[in-house]
Amino acid sequence: MPEPSSAPVHVTVTGAAGQVAYATLFRIAAGEMLGPDTPVVLRLLEVEPAMDALEGVAMELQDGAFPLLADVVTTSSAETAFEGTSWALLLGASPRTAGMERGDLLTANAGLFAPQGRAIAAGAAADVRVLVVGNPCNTNCLIAASHAPDVPRDRWFAMTRLDENRAKAQLAHRAGVSVAQVTNTAIWGNHSATQYPDAAHALIGGRPAPEVIADDAWLDGEFVSVVQQRGAAIVAARGKSSAGSAASGVIDSVRSIAEGTPEGDWTSLGVISGGEYGVPEGLVFSYPVESDGRGWKVAEGLKHDAAAQRRLDATIEELVKEREGVADLLK
Ligand code: NAD
Ligand code: LMR
Repeated sequence: MPEPSSAPVHVTVTGAAGQVAYATLFRIAAGEMLGPDTPVVLRLLEVEPAMDALEGVAMELQDGAFPLLADVVTTSSAETAFEGTSWALLLGASPRTAGMERGDLLTANAGLFAPQGRAIAAGAAADVRVLVVGNPCNTNCLIAASHAPDVPRDRWFAMTRLDENRAKAQLAHRAGVSVAQVTNTAIWGNHSATQYPDAAHALIGGRPAPEVIADDAWLDGEFVSVVQQRGAAIVAARGKSSAGSAASGVIDSVRSIAEGTPEGDWTSLGVISGGEYGVPEGLVFSYPVESDGRGWKVAEGLKHDAAAQRRLDATIEELVKEREGVADLLK
């Protein structure tokens, strides 16, 4: 096999001894995220008590003998973890347990994101892009970004691609087609039970999903609630929150940002709102996002009926409340 030729890209993963990281790291090392020609240095951040476990993960990464894995750095220092990094994947945060909403994690997790934002601002590469996964990811992203005012606003993302993938899978299953046939599936708003999974603009085999599915009651009812509640259903079934599917969401998100979205399609990402679709400016809100690999924009011109607008208003309201709840952590 030829040696990879380009300089390695530094990728930081926080919470690197956690379960989402365990499902993600080996896929990054195998080239699934940045491609088969891009060597990577993994910069792994953990809290001090988890350093032994992290060393075990590093040993396993070494034992994978991945040709693209140029180096693994393990550290409990955020400054070291983010030094020179081009991709900061913020997984490190407590997960919820049964009976909790993701927003209930704000008290436990929000405080982690201000110092990480500052460390990214201080030491990351000029091209850094940040994907926040730790919940509640929209508001945690907002906190981190507010502590890194010099990092451009279009570099900050919160992960709602897992919700999009869930929505696609539900539509494909109902229509009896492959997920590859389902495109233009948008998640709007918060990565929470108020999110709006939008089937109205989705296409199945290039035709409007509502026409193919021909069951508005299912689309407005069960489809929306299954996607909104899927994370909780997994916690209830597994006793732990999603990890393998979350890792897929991470890989898919980064690929869509870095490689671009297919012509005429989009990916769902929480981004810092510029006020599009009536969302208050500055909230981290999930939109359908079109990327060309160099930059991105929110998909334009999508129309929402009154019922969809009510769903958008509900998720906006929740995000505004979350922002108010962390006002003392915002800079
Ligand atoms: P986990 O408990 O298995 O792992 C979290 C890890 O983060 C732990 O090892 C912990 O030591 C570490 N950590 C805590 N504080 C840290 C800090 N300040 N710096 C570095 N590391 C730190 O949890 P998990 O199942 O891997 O989930 C991680 C987070 O991702 C949770 O908040 C979960 O809710 C969230 N999540 C989000 C999505 C999404 O779609 N956005 C999907 C799945 C999980
Ligand atoms: C998910 O959607 O699976 C994650 O956000 C974990 C959770 O708490 O639901």
